[in-house]
Amino acid sequence: MDKLVIDGGKPVRKKPFPPRIMFDEKEVKVITEMMKKATKENTAKYLDRYAGNQVDTYEKEFAKFFGTKFATAVSSGTAAVHSAIAALEFEPGDRIITTPITDPGTVMPILFQGLIPVFADVDFDTLNLTAKTIEEKIDKKTRGIIVVHLAGVPCEMDKIMELAQKYNLKVIEDCSQSHASIYKNKYVGTFGDMGVFSLMSGKHMTSGGQGGMVITDNEEYYWKAKRFADRGKPFGIENPKGNVSIGLNYRMTEIEASIGRVQLKKIKKIAEKRFKIVEELRRGFKNLRAFSLWKRPEESKPNYWFCFIKVDTEKLKYDKYKIAEILSKEGLPVGAHYVIPMYENPFIKEKKTFGTSGYPFIPYGEDLEYNCPVAEKALNAHITLYIHEGWGKKEIEDTIKIFEKVEKHCLK
Ligand SMILES: Cc1ncc(COP(=O)(O)O)c(C=O)c1O
Repeated sequence: MDKLVIDGGKPVRKKPFPPRIMFDEKEVKVITEMMKKATKENTAKYLDRYAGNQVDTYEKEFAKFFGTKFATAVSSGTAAVHSAIAALEFEPGDRIITTPITDPGTVMPILFQGLIPVFADVDFDTLNLTAKTIEEKIDKKTRGIIVVHLAGVPCEMDKIMELAQKYNLKVIEDCSQSHASIYKNKYVGTFGDMGVFSLMSGKHMTSGGQGGMVITDNEEYYWKAKRFADRGKPFGIENPKGNVSIGLNYRMTEIEASIGRVQLKKIKKIAEKRFKIVEELRRGFKNLRAFSLWKRPEESKPNYWFCFIKVDTEKLKYDKYKIAEILSKEGLPVGAHYVIPMYENPFIKEKKTFGTSGYPFIPYGEDLEYNCPVAEKALNAHITLYIHEGWGKKEIEDTIKIFEKVEKHCLK
C-alpha cells in the first residue's frame, strides 16, 4: 500500500488540480470596448450606473432569468442582504431567524438595522435550516427569516414558506452560494419575499470581482431596496422633495454590470456541469466507509458551490483538521473551513457593534442565549472540497482515489 504523502509517500495526483477560469474573450471584449470609449469621451459616462445603461440592462436580464418582476443591482452580497432587510422596514429590536452556518455577510446587516439575529439549528445532513428548526425559535418578537441555501443546496422552501405564512413572517433567501439552484422546479430566491445574491468572484458567476443583486416580485420592496442602496434617493416617487429615507451608497458600476451580463449567459451551463460532477462524486463515494457527501433534498437540483464531505471521526484515527491536512498533502483542493457557528464570532460574543453600547443586543437581545448543538456537531464533522465546472473525468477519478487511499491509511 502506497504511503501517505505526509509519511514520505508519493501523491496520487502529480499535476495540480486545474485553476478555475471564469472569463474568456467575451468579458475581455466588453471591458476593452468600454474602456476604449472611456478614453475618448467623457469618462464618467461609461463608468457610473446613471450615465450608462449596463446596470439597468443587467437588472432587467437578471430578473428575466429568474422569472421575477424586479431586480436591483448593488455593490456586494452583504449590500444585497442589507438592502433587502431595509426594504422590509422592520422595527428596531425585531428578531430575524437565520442560520449559524453562513458568511458574516448574512448576519451583519441584521445588526446594522438594529435587529436581533436569532440562530436556529440546522439539519445535520444538509447543514441547512428547516421549517422545524426555525419554528423552535419563533417568539413574539420574531418578524423575519433569512434562509441561506448553503453551498448551493436548497432549503425546503415550500415548508418554510408555509411556516412563514402561519406566523406572518417575511422571508429573505440568501442565494449567495446557490445561483440558479432549483427546488421543486423553481429557482431559489423566488420563493420568499426577496432573494439576494453575492456576485463576488469566488461565486458561480460574478459581476467583476464584487457585486450583488436583490430580486423580488413586490414592487414596493423593490423601490425601497433601490432607494436604500443609494442614500434614500426618491426612486419611484412622483414629485419628490428630497431623499426620502436613510440609506447608503451600494451602487454597482457599469464595468461590473457589463461583466455580470456576460456571466449571466454562462450560469446554466455552469450549474449543469457542477451538478454532474458532484453527482458523479456521490457515486464514487458509495464504497467509502468514513467519508460521505452531504445530502441534497429530494426534488432539488443544486448548483453546487463547493462540497461538504462528512468525516466520520469515530471510524478514523484523526479529527477533521488532520484529515483535511492529509488530503491536501495528497494534492486535493480541500479545507477544514466553516469551523465555528456564527454566534462564536467576537462581533456577536463580545457585542462589538456600535461603540461600547452593545446595541442592538443591548437592550433588545439580553434574554437570548445562542446554542445550536446540531450545527456545532456538523461543523466538527465536515470538511470542504472545492470543485468547479472546469473539472473533468480525471479530477473526479483522482478525488475518489485520494479519498480511498486516505481512508485505507486512516481507519482505526
Ligand atoms: C451566504 C452568503 N451571504 C452573504 C455573503 C456576502 O457576500 P459578499 O462577499 O459579496 O458581500 C456571502 C459571501 O460569501 C455568502 O456566502
